[in-house]
Amino acid sequence: MTDKISKEIHNKLFKDPEYLMRLLESYPSLFYLYDYKNSLPVYANKNLYIQLGYSIEEIKKFGSNLDKHLLHPDDINVVVINRNNTNKAKDGEMIESDYRLKHKSGKWVWFHNTVSVFERDKNGEVYLTVGTIQNITKSKQAEEELIESRERLRNLSSHLQAAREEERKQVAREIHDELGQSLTALKLDLSLCSSHFPDTPENKKVINTKMPGILKLVDDTISKVRKISTRLRPSLLDNSGLVPALEWQINEFQKRTNIKCKTKFIDDDSTLDKDMSMAIFRICQESLTNVARHAKAKNVTVILERKNGSLVMEVKDDGIGINESKILNSQSFGLLGMKERAKYFGGKMTINSLKEKGTSVKAEFPVDSE
Ligand SMILES: Nc1ncnc2c1ncn2[C@@H]1O[C@H](COP(=O)(O)OP(=O)(O)OP(=O)(O)O)[C@@H](O)[C@H]1O
Ligand SMILES: [Mg+2]
Repeated sequence: MTDKISKEIHNKLFKDPEYLMRLLESYPSLFYLYDYKNSLPVYANKNLYIQLGYSIEEIKKFGSNLDKHLLHPDDINVVVINRNNTNKAKDGEMIESDYRLKHKSGKWVWFHNTVSVFERDKNGEVYLTVGTIQNITKSKQAEEELIESRERLRNLSSHLQAAREEERKQVAREIHDELGQSLTALKLDLSLCSSHFPDTPENKKVINTKMPGILKLVDDTISKVRKISTRLRPSLLDNSGLVPALEWQINEFQKRTNIKCKTKFIDDDSTLDKDMSMAIFRICQESLTNVARHAKAKNVTVILERKNGSLVMEVKDDGIGINESKILNSQSFGLLGMKERAKYFGGKMTINSLKEKGTSVKAEFPVDSE
């Protein structure tokens, strides 16, 4: 801008009230001056009428009752807080709030209000405030849709987890019952057959050399079938509860990996919700699998305790630690799955890690304090 033009505009701004008025009216958002002491709007540009769908006369009729007529009942508190903050505000401080006003058509419109003190009376009390208001309905709708869609995804994920658990339970039962029973029957039949072979030296030789191996093979297969079935869905969890199931899991982990495990568990798990127990069991399983696969740890501590109205499960290792980027990575599906499981029960999961000092995975679930 040249000096000449700038001077010309400057002059108009200060000497021509109409020019100033036109500027305020053209301001591309709602601008207002408010008699804070008497709760009366002093001036609002035309955006007020445009945004709310009323004529100037209709708005004027509301007078100091604009809030009473147009404010969403759930947002009354927002306006009260806004007023309290304005009372305490320093000069130049901006106070922000979001609330809904009713459009003439009956629809609710979201607004973002930014206000600050413009003038005080001689006692220093706020007299006039000045502010701008923006229509944020579209971004609020997008925000609400995002929250709803997250909620839907969380429900879907939990539904899939539940379906997966149910399927595992059935497969585990079938493997255990069908395969396990057939193998046991096979073992009995084999023993029976061998005792019915004609008593010839040749038969004896075959029975003595081959039969022990065959029977051992069947025994090993039976125990493998049991292991597979238990790994799929430990019946301990359904029949005896979370703590025995965790003890079994940790014992298996110790045998498999040679990593030393210390445990500290609650005494009574009888009141725990079954689905929550399942979630805790799976979080522990995923954490221990991670320790075995990634941590290079020598020791692990698993704690299940009640703390400040929450049930807390922590798996701590003394391994190499996880770096921050892996914790935040949206592709870390194991960690994400654990977080989602905890969130579904209104809980949260936190991961703390120090390089070369190990990792702690802590899941907290709100439970009724007893
Ligand atoms: N206890 C741990 N110690 C060190 N690093 C870990 C630990 N747990 C997780 N990590 C790191 O965090 C990454 C993400 O873990 P996450 O469980 O999400 O995936 P993953 O184990 O690689 O694969 P999966 O999807 O099969 O679980 C791992 O690849 C590993 O680098
Ligand atoms: Mg993993």
